[in-house]
Amino acid sequence: MVAAFRSNLHFGAEPRAGRGNYRQMDRGSKPAVLVTGGAGYIGAHTAKALSERGFFPVVFDSLSSGFREAVRWGAFVHGDIRDARAVAEALDEYGAKSVIHFAGLIEVGRSVVQPDLFWEINVAGTTSLLTAMRERGVERMVFSSSAAVYGQGGRGPLETIPEDATKAPSSPYGDTKLACEWMIQAQCKAYGLSAVALRYFNAAGADPSGLIGEAHEPETHLIPLAIAAALGDGKPLTVFGDDFDTPDGTCLRDYIHVNDLAAAHVAALEVALPAGAYEAVNVGTGTGNSVREVVEAVGRATGRPVPHSIGARRAGDPPSLVANASRAKDLLGWEPTCSDLDRIVADALRWEAQPAYGSGRRATSRKIESTN
Ligand code: UFG
Repeated sequence: MVAAFRSNLHFGAEPRAGRGNYRQMDRGSKPAVLVTGGAGYIGAHTAKALSERGFFPVVFDSLSSGFREAVRWGAFVHGDIRDARAVAEALDEYGAKSVIHFAGLIEVGRSVVQPDLFWEINVAGTTSLLTAMRERGVERMVFSSSAAVYGQGGRGPLETIPEDATKAPSSPYGDTKLACEWMIQAQCKAYGLSAVALRYFNAAGADPSGLIGEAHEPETHLIPLAIAAALGDGKPLTVFGDDFDTPDGTCLRDYIHVNDLAAAHVAALEVALPAGAYEAVNVGTGTGNSVREVVEAVGRATGRPVPHSIGARRAGDPPSLVANASRAKDLLGWEPTCSDLDRIVADALRWEAQPAYGSGRRATSRKIESTN
């Protein structure tokens, strides 16, 4: 498969002389892929999947929210995507002709109060990255987009979302992801880049190895917070609203195992596309679970009820986000294989009980000590 990918994308450009040759030896004949944000949650799982598929991931990360401990496959370059020169040097150094772009801010709630920062890092950062990519002749990009580009629009709570659905982001975070998509699409047309924007639904779970997992600081995502509450770190979960127009009144989301998501990136890198092509693809399961259902699943997995209370709605939260995932299958040949909610929660729990890095480690160590 790697061989097919190489012939499709004309891989094999040799790095520069000198240090570049050393880097070539370092990775053998494996095609290098620059992975911005590769020390983060989804980036690290994707780096592992790339390595297992015969690629050489070059993680380019500022470590502002990622973890050095999460970089275990390929090489690491410490840098910021807004520094086009540093990106260009990393591309040169490893002879990378493809980029998977994760780096950026992700917290929906924070984007509502700090929209300027989100535009600076997510949009200006992607502009800068694209400039370096164009200068260095990068041929394929996979972009970390989001279901947040859809918002609720006029959609009913039980309707799944196809890629051509109305785009009505309900947060500045979603605005920035949509703006990046437009910019990437325009550059594909203008400069012959081919790109796939993957619109993630709710990434969750962890690699069963226990080496990498979810470690956001601060943690804002439902599943790790529900697990922490069940295991008794002192903070009950707040359910953000139970008066939505959904079957049980809590928000519906499409939870996708992070390893399924990682596999979608490899498929998007390998799919044959002509120069100039731009494709947007949902990455979800097509099944929605409510916040209440997640709380119950965490209760089953931990054997303890999740202490929780009902709070106000969180700004920027659409009532439901569930993918129509048929395009991923048709275009990428990708389907989820491990995204059953109980499996996701079991893998998340294994990680949260013994995280290899991140603040969860400290909280959990305290908790395990106090319960043992
Ligand atoms: N929730 C709670 N209490 C919490 C945390 C979350 O009730 O303490 C609820 C939220 O209101 C939401 C659901 O749980 O209904 C999931 O919330 P998350 O914060 O786990 O995830 P989001 O749906 O807000 O966002 C995630 C990613 C975004 C992406 C989005 C797309 O973080 O980047 O999925 O679906 F855009």
